[in-house]
Amino acid sequence: RTIYTAGRPPWYNEHGAQSKEAFVIGLCGGSASGKTTVARKIIEALDVPWVVLLSMDSFYKTMAASNDYNFDHPDAFDFDLLSHTLRKLKQGKSVKIPVYDFTTHGRQKEWKTVYGASVIIFEGIMAFADKKLLQLLDMKIFVDTDSDIRLVRRLRRDITDRGRDIEGVIKQYNKFVKPAFEQYIEPTMRLADIVVPRGGGNMVAIDLIVQHVHSQLEERKLRWDIAALASAHQAQPL
Ligand code: C5P
Repeated sequence: RTIYTAGRPPWYNEHGAQSKEAFVIGLCGGSASGKTTVARKIIEALDVPWVVLLSMDSFYKTMAASNDYNFDHPDAFDFDLLSHTLRKLKQGKSVKIPVYDFTTHGRQKEWKTVYGASVIIFEGIMAFADKKLLQLLDMKIFVDTDSDIRLVRRLRRDITDRGRDIEGVIKQYNKFVKPAFEQYIEPTMRLADIVVPRGGGNMVAIDLIVQHVHSQLEERKLRWDIAALASAHQAQPL
């Protein structure tokens, strides 16, 4: 990974003008559908030097969370900070990102720095729920995994990694997670360019996605190179 100095990543020319833009992939799907696994497999297969994975989980609002707090409602997320952050990253700038703690339901004191990249993968249950965010996405992928599989995975994960008990997980699932999936998440599947059934095990889908990203990066490189040549040509004294 390249650490950019003085806020000027390589895609700003000597006049400070932007000469490149990151390719942003939006990855949406229900809780425990395998979004992160799909993202990791894409990153692995892409094999390009600078890729950043941005998770919506980092942008949960800090609320005094009670047992009855609905983490599966759009109001639970700080969409303003999210679109501001993604826009900056897309421009190749580095950003500070909150670090969310699922056991305390709050943000940690230290925010982490994320540097600009050629490809950004943005994943989350409501990745397609906000107009401003949608405009920043160059490719939209929906991971469609059966709800029974998602529930089993979620039980295991929340108990092992997020300090929950079985009763609590089932209660939260029935009260918030399942209705929210039906009301807010599943309907956004129609906004996707590609739907990946089953998730991370679907290597055909992952290969197709990676092929598309590679061809988009090539095309963009060509476009930016032509623009740079044209501006260099204009700058030539007669
Ligand atoms: O990783 P995943 O996409 O599953 O994360 C989203 C889920 O995290 C939501 O369905 C929400 O119910 C859950 N969540 C939670 N406790 C929090 C914040 C989010 O259980 N404090």
